[in-house]
Amino acid sequence: MRAEDVVYQPEKYWDRLFAPGGHASMITTVDKDGRINAASYATTVRIVHNPVHIAFTTALAGQTASNIRETGQFVVNLPAFERDILEKVRIVGLPFAKGVNELEKAGLTALPSTFVTPPRILECTRHFECEVVWTKDWLNRTMVVGNVLGASVHRDLVDAKGYIVWNKIKPVAFCGAPYVNMFAGSYETMEVGLPYEGPEVVAADKSVRSYFEDM
Ligand SMILES: Cc1cc2nc3c(=O)[nH]c(=O)nc-3n(C[C@H](O)[C@H](O)[C@H](O)COP(=O)(O)O)c2cc1C
Repeated sequence: MRAEDVVYQPEKYWDRLFAPGGHASMITTVDKDGRINAASYATTVRIVHNPVHIAFTTALAGQTASNIRETGQFVVNLPAFERDILEKVRIVGLPFAKGVNELEKAGLTALPSTFVTPPRILECTRHFECEVVWTKDWLNRTMVVGNVLGASVHRDLVDAKGYIVWNKIKPVAFCGAPYVNMFAGSYETMEVGLPYEGPEVVAADKSVRSYFEDM
């Protein structure tokens, strides 16, 4: 993959780029001294359409949480449903000691970001540069919500209107800790009807149309 093939998308297309709503990811952060950290996440979810916000949960005692507290920035990097990159997602998810750069351990390439200090990951096809809006600690975890400041994608993986090309982007979810090493690819898509008649359909249609009016 070549850095010159990664292009920023206009803000009106960011919501289209983070599809479907939930993903496996690798999240990059830096500490206050600029040292890079990366960790893998099953829990990355797009939680607001406009402006686009992304949430995830992480261990309160982990390096990601600590860096988020120190710098208030992170980058969500989305891998494709391909064996090579998913093996690296597993490496990045290992409990490396504080200060270790997981990108180097996994053989991944740091691509400088434009809007935040943590880098993007070149081998991931989509990147969302975020500033923290709020965090909430509970049990042994923290939930982080970020506002997207910039989003980029490998060219040719989206169409001219910013919609993803599903069989090239190949979105992926992690099946969860009980499944250990299993990922689910979700690039088969199907348009389905709405076999219901009533005012709610008209209302929903109106709301969707208003959302797309200026695009
Ligand atoms: C595929 C995958 C998904 C993961 N998802 C999560 C998650 O959603 N939340 C979490 O706290 N840890 C998750 N982990 C574990 C973290 O990546 C791991 O604990 C990592 O060491 C945390 O790094 P940090 O201390 O640098 O934050 C996942 C690991 C893998 C391999």
